[in-house]
Amino acid sequence: MKDTVKERLVKLQAASLEEPFCAYLYDLEGIQAQVQAMLSRLPERAGLFYAIKANPDLRIIEALLPYVAGFEVASAGELLKVREVSASVPVLFGGPGKTAAELATALRHNVAYIHVESLLELRRLIQLAEGRSEPVRILLRMNLRTSTLPETGITMGGRPTPFGLDEDLLEAALTILREEGRGRVHFSGFHFHSLSNNLNARLHAEMIEFYLRKAAMWSERYGLKLEIVNAGGGFGISYEGAPPFDWWAFTELIGASEALKELPGTKLWFEPGRYLVANHGYYAAEVIDLKSSHDQYFAVLRGGTHHHRLPASWGHNQPFEVLPAERWSHPFPRPEIRQEKVTLVGELCTPKDRMHANAAVERLRVGDIVVFQQSGAYCWTISHHDFLSHPHPQFYYLTEGNDYGDRNQVNQHRPQGCSSASNGGFAEHAAK
Ligand SMILES: Cc1ncc(COP(=O)(O)O)c(C=O)c1O
Repeated sequence: MKDTVKERLVKLQAASLEEPFCAYLYDLEGIQAQVQAMLSRLPERAGLFYAIKANPDLRIIEALLPYVAGFEVASAGELLKVREVSASVPVLFGGPGKTAAELATALRHNVAYIHVESLLELRRLIQLAEGRSEPVRILLRMNLRTSTLPETGITMGGRPTPFGLDEDLLEAALTILREEGRGRVHFSGFHFHSLSNNLNARLHAEMIEFYLRKAAMWSERYGLKLEIVNAGGGFGISYEGAPPFDWWAFTELIGASEALKELPGTKLWFEPGRYLVANHGYYAAEVIDLKSSHDQYFAVLRGGTHHHRLPASWGHNQPFEVLPAERWSHPFPRPEIRQEKVTLVGELCTPKDRMHANAAVERLRVGDIVVFQQSGAYCWTISHHDFLSHPHPQFYYLTEGNDYGDRNQVNQHRPQGCSSASNGGFAEHAAK
């Protein structure tokens, strides 16, 4: 963990006099440095969008705005968040259940491309597009019939799922486009997002080669002009010590892709979520009790899975570090364990509220802060915040200007352009 992150958290806790400390800290500077390093390796025809579902915090969207080609959203609500930050940045609108009202909102807010995921959705869109001066640009999201995709814990394609169009329905979609959509909807290419959290860069590159070949074959067979192939997100984060996704190896393989060379007029886009933000978020929770039960230690935290559901959702142990806090003003002894194993749990009345089981700690005391690392993606945003009505955490941000105010403060500092790429922290991470 960065020293600046530790310093901030310790100071913030010391200042929180009323209540035990519980906060998210997002390292915006770290996100920006990583994205710049990633962009410096991308082939010329590639574009990087941020899928905001991973973390739709406005300050994160704002921090990424100068660097990414745009944002991927999966609801009208997400679209409006992006539009709060920028009226004009390109937005891609995906998701399996778009209502007519959401599609209409997307058109009103000038979405750049809609990822169409069903025949009905295509017809809805064609109807809504009537009378527009410009056709609506779409990508068809495809669910491939193949067993060759990498195995990960989360798959959206290559098997029966509600996502995208079964490739057997492609001809039907193209017939609708030709016969009903002419002048109203413009086909720009294909979208694929078949899986999430893939740690294997080589397999990921091979999957994208497969997407490109499929798209090229369809383009030839059906006489389609292929402007864009969007290969989705899915670059993985290693939470429990497996080797991390190697962006360097991946971009090298993509740069050398024969399939990409054979499509000289086609752009290749990516829309990752997790990989851009996961490593730059920290969830800090103060220990409010330490107890032993049936010969095992439990540390009860101010906070838990209602703020950070990822370890419960995935069944993993969230990595953490203990930040000792000296504050103790009570007349009774301060509970403490040394060189023990302890299970870190939240404040909810359910045994599922578990952040890390049987962790070895050197020393842990009531009042210390446990900081869960890799908490920037799919943590707060996927959690059941109001179960048991405990207070929400505070949100703080680390920026180049050392601003670490709460989320209501507007960040005046906006980096200009992305020319000063630094591989710094991200290179270090990738090399581990
Ligand atoms: C269509 C689509 N694009 C992009 C993403 C981002 O995926 P990840 O966070 O794994 O990169 C998702 C995640 O579910 C998705 O459904």
